[in-house]
Amino acid sequence: MTATHLDHTKAFAAHVIRELASCGPGKQATVIGLYGELGAGKTTFTKEAALLLGVRRTVSSPTFVLERIYTLSPKYTFSKLIHIDAYRLKDGTELAHLGWAELLADPKNLIFIEWPEKVMDVMPVRHIGIFFTHKGENERTIELRRV
Ligand SMILES: Nc1ncnc2c1ncn2[C@@H]1O[C@H](COP(=O)(O)OP(=O)(O)O)[C@@H](O)[C@H]1O
Ligand SMILES: [Mg+2]
Repeated sequence: MTATHLDHTKAFAAHVIRELASCGPGKQATVIGLYGELGAGKTTFTKEAALLLGVRRTVSSPTFVLERIYTLSPKYTFSKLIHIDAYRLKDGTELAHLGWAELLADPKNLIFIEWPEKVMDVMPVRHIGIFFTHKGENERTIELRRV
């Protein structure tokens, strides 16, 4: 879809959250790769999704801290929302140090990861990808694909 306005990102986030809720948890964590260049809208999308999942804390970009974990209310399918920004990483080694295997093993975890290309070596072979493209100054597109 074309997303020239925050409302579009919000609507798309609502769609994704609804889909996830209808699928329920899997055998492992649900991992969503957020693909797209700097400024394409990945963090904005995560903020909107977090709001829809009842996160009241301010969701800010984890570029420098790498990872932020938000605990969700028991009424949701997932008990934790994990937001990772892999922009500064060379590969998945650093994520492995953060306990990536344990994060992946818990089906109650919902993991949003910006710059998944940087850590493709530790991404689940099959995951959901959301692709953000900057078309013009104010025009963006958002697209969901299974990777
Ligand atoms: N759908 C949208 N329409 C208009 N502006 C947007 C939209 N999505 C994001 N932005 C704006 O783009 C800028 C960069 O967004 P951000 O989510 O931080 O990008 P990324 O995390 O991909 O680097 C922010 O100022 C944000 O408000
Ligand atoms: Mg970002």
